[in-house]
Amino acid sequence: MIWTDVAAALVTTKTPRQVEVSDCLDKSRSPECRTCPARFGPDCISRVALGLLNAALIDNEKRTPMTHVRSQKADSELAFWQSRLRQQGTLTNDHYAYFYTAHFGLAKTFYRSKKILDIGCGPRGSLEWADEAAARIGIDPLAAAYRQLGTSRHAMHAGSAEGLPFPDASFDVVCSLNSLDHVDDLNQTIGEICRVLAPRGYFLLVTEIHRHPTVLEPMVYSWDIVAAFQPELAVVEQKQVEYTVFSPEGFGDIYQSLREGTPYDHSDVRERSGILSVRFRKGG
Ligand SMILES: C[S@@+](CC[C@H](N)C(=O)[O-])C[C@H]1O[C@@H](n2cnc3c(N)ncnc32)[C@H](O)[C@@H]1O
Repeated sequence: MIWTDVAAALVTTKTPRQVEVSDCLDKSRSPECRTCPARFGPDCISRVALGLLNAALIDNEKRTPMTHVRSQKADSELAFWQSRLRQQGTLTNDHYAYFYTAHFGLAKTFYRSKKILDIGCGPRGSLEWADEAAARIGIDPLAAAYRQLGTSRHAMHAGSAEGLPFPDASFDVVCSLNSLDHVDDLNQTIGEICRVLAPRGYFLLVTEIHRHPTVLEPMVYSWDIVAAFQPELAVVEQKQVEYTVFSPEGFGDIYQSLREGTPYDHSDVRERSGILSVRFRKGG
């Protein structure tokens, strides 16, 4: 089987679709992901096909090569934050303290003398609250551009999740809040998160679960994405939440919806996005 054929077969349905666990393209390996040798890794046919499908869909729809799609992604992200800045006057960051602490069952004092990495940190200064940490580093491909938005007071490194410029086991806490579906290579990103996290360290994940790739959010995965981090990281707690708060333009508000915390109703089969929040811990 050739991967591009798999993607092409899926694309001919003309309906963008997510490759689910239940949709496994190679049932001969194992009936379950947990016991499958591919385990969502680089050998997982469904996952490889999904990556190609996403690329093909974006490419087909926009009729542009992927390199252009990537720069279009950066332009769109920046335009989003510029418009937020115009609307709000300043890019505030008060809400983050709650999400890094109470939301994940961690006290602010827990962060005392810890090293924290925030992947896809955005321009707001997401770690400004963590003033007792030994190190607090935000990394984002748009860090340089974000400095033009008046956010230069926050320590941000330009870089990507796929190649974190830090030695192994450098951080006590690694976070990805609303950024995992924004990356370009999910496998590499997951490998890098596991690599830079110290033994017994926490990985804090908040991510949207959606079904259709967009230029800004090219990665699509289901609730089972937690399995892709196992067994290196164990799940301490997870929440699966409905979008209940929306902006006037109709965009789901991930943070306000998480605060409301309405459990995602899996018995309701209507197609809609949801929010996954997980606290992982690295073994060792
Ligand atoms: C929706 S914003 C989230 C910002 C912030 N974490 C928050 O929740 O407010 C997604 C961020 O992911 C960043 N991003 C996109 N591709 C990335 C990559 N390959 N590696 C790391 N971050 C990336 C974007 O530049 C953007 O700042």
